[in-house]
Amino acid sequence: MEQTFALKGNIIFTPVCGKLEVRPRQYLVCENGLVAGIFETLPERFANIPVHEHGDRLILPGLVDLHVHASQYAYRGLGMDMELLDWLEENAFPEEARFADPAYAAAAYRVFADELTRSATTRASIFATVHRPATLLLMDLLEKAGLRGFVGKLNMDSNCPDYLRETTEGSLAETRRWLEESAGFSGVRPVITPRFIPSCSETLMNGLGGLQRQFGAAMQSHLSENLSEIEWVKQLRPSTRFYGEAYSQPGLFGGECPTVMAHCIWSGEEERALMKERGVFLAHCPQSNMNVSSGIAPVRTWLREGQKAGLGSDVAGGAHLSIFRAMTDAIQCSKLRWRLVDDSLPALTLPEALYLATKGGGEFFGKVGSFEPGYEFDAIVMDDSALPTTRQCTLTERLERVVWLSDGLPLAKYVAGRQLF
Ligand code: GUN
Ligand code: FE
Repeated sequence: MEQTFALKGNIIFTPVCGKLEVRPRQYLVCENGLVAGIFETLPERFANIPVHEHGDRLILPGLVDLHVHASQYAYRGLGMDMELLDWLEENAFPEEARFADPAYAAAAYRVFADELTRSATTRASIFATVHRPATLLLMDLLEKAGLRGFVGKLNMDSNCPDYLRETTEGSLAETRRWLEESAGFSGVRPVITPRFIPSCSETLMNGLGGLQRQFGAAMQSHLSENLSEIEWVKQLRPSTRFYGEAYSQPGLFGGECPTVMAHCIWSGEEERALMKERGVFLAHCPQSNMNVSSGIAPVRTWLREGQKAGLGSDVAGGAHLSIFRAMTDAIQCSKLRWRLVDDSLPALTLPEALYLATKGGGEFFGKVGSFEPGYEFDAIVMDDSALPTTRQCTLTERLERVVWLSDGLPLAKYVAGRQLF
């Protein structure tokens, strides 16, 4: 593998939320998996490195999917006429039960890994199922494909069908074993994944808190997504003032525990203040929020508060794996929110959506999602020549057209300095 090389083309990224950095026909240099810099002409020490010439194409940071269910990929686009809790019973649980069979898991996760590989996504935080062997299989497929990110074996000991329910002790024992067995992975790491509060007893959550501290793992879950779910959590955890406290009590809500929470549509001021204080990431999944009628998250409020936030596809709540699609969905539903709910919160702009899709979510993985020196070299090359127009577009306009109009599939893709295609 080449250690040091350059991509040449039209480079666009967002070092600051809402501000595009546009560098026409320049060199983006990768040195040992990291961004070394962007140059108009190659400096002396890089004079002889290989250059991948991308002509007039656009070079963007790889996109980040901060919340996706690999185990739900098979039924994406199906069964959307329900709210969350019914949707889980009807669609998610029966499909996820099939992953007890390693042959089914191998076939289904192969499809997911192939689709994620050819997509513009370079990093993802992924939900598997409760099944340890199938989860390891998914991690292996993703690692071999050269993708990076987090994969979680789910925990569920309550309020789910018998065919999917773990015992509390069994769930903890399998999670411990899975964390031990994950030690051999490098680019794909395990993330502790209690499904959501209704599916996890307090004993289980306390045990997971202990495992998190022992293994130093990251953590992902769902938070304040749906109004019926939030009412249910109030009944299940009467001592909490808000949903997030049910994660915070066992020590699974930021601070020493790197945490990403999906949705947070209905997170109130107290919950958001705790998230800000603890550095919890918020994963906005606009398409899922619309499909299962959960609501529209106030992303403008999050940005004003300086929350750590990114975008998620939430397949199969979201039908589409494309994070370009998540960008336009986020923009569109923020416009509806502004018009119909709260006109003090202006809609998201395209540069803001690109930031959320790259550096915003990327920070959950470290220095990811930007082309500033020292960032991991995740890049995609987009070819917009198949989107003909008689207009002479600027580079910013070409970016807009790629985001809104293209199939979202890159021509070339690099993850941590490795070219996947
Ligand atoms: N809450 C608990 N489980 C799920 C799930 O699978 N998808 C979504 N969108 N929300 C959830
Ligand atoms: Fe989800």
